Amino acid sequence: MNDPHASNHPRKFVLGVSGASGAAYSLRFLQAMLEQGHEMHLVVSEYGRRLLFEESGIKHLTIEELAPGLAGDAGVRSRLFVHPDKDVGAVIASGSFLHSGMAILPCSSTTLGQVATGSGSNLLCRAAMVTLKERRPLIICHREMPLSLIDIENMRQATLAGAVMCSPNPGFYLNPRSVEEIVDFVVGKVMDLLHVPHSLKTRWESTLARPATTMPS
Ligand SMILES: Cc1cc2nc3c(=O)[nH]c(=O)nc-3n(C[C@H](O)[C@H](O)[C@H](O)COP(=O)(O)O)c2cc1C
Repeated sequence: MNDPHASNHPRKFVLGVSGASGAAYSLRFLQAMLEQGHEMHLVVSEYGRRLLFEESGIKHLTIEELAPGLAGDAGVRSRLFVHPDKDVGAVIASGSFLHSGMAILPCSSTTLGQVATGSGSNLLCRAAMVTLKERRPLIICHREMPLSLIDIENMRQATLAGAVMCSPNPGFYLNPRSVEEIVDFVVGKVMDLLHVPHSLKTRWESTLARPATTMPS
């Protein structure tokens, strides 16, 4: 079934990357969103940069390193904006900057707590808190296991404030054959929550359901 809220029109989105495991999710999400024609505003926390390096070898936040397959596309290059995490004067720190939603992918327990309590002072947290106050979609992909009551209470608080908790928690009912398919499953769920059409494999199709007209009487 098609998402009635989905739009193929190019839109602006914010991606926050914090210091939780899952660099592959961030990179795939960024690539898929840019390929769909969207303008992406990226902010990476200090430990997010550490994660991008540890898990994907990324040293510089350039299109060549973040999305090498798209680096030759001038249109894509013009649609990727990277904001320094210390610059709380960046456009995404202001509610006057209109965008269609933000994902924190992956989200550490630290960033979750800061967003939930409104205590973060870096640009990633500021952009997230602005997204909440402006009542725009904020998708928080918190990665940690197991969870302390502090994490659970922070999730509750963030949910009450309007965020959607979407832990990177892949289903296996589509029988993934590769890590890439598992990553795509999570990324596709996040794109669904932002109402971005995609063709990533996320949908269960029951073999039992048939159109009513073909059912035996
Ligand atoms: C290699 C590595 C992996 C980490 N993985 C996680 C994780 O999965 N979840 C988490 O909450 N913190 C994780 N951490 C710890 C956070 O990076 C740390 O708490 C940091 O203060 C988070 O800061 P940030 O939220 O501003 O990025 C990891 C740290 C490192 C170095």
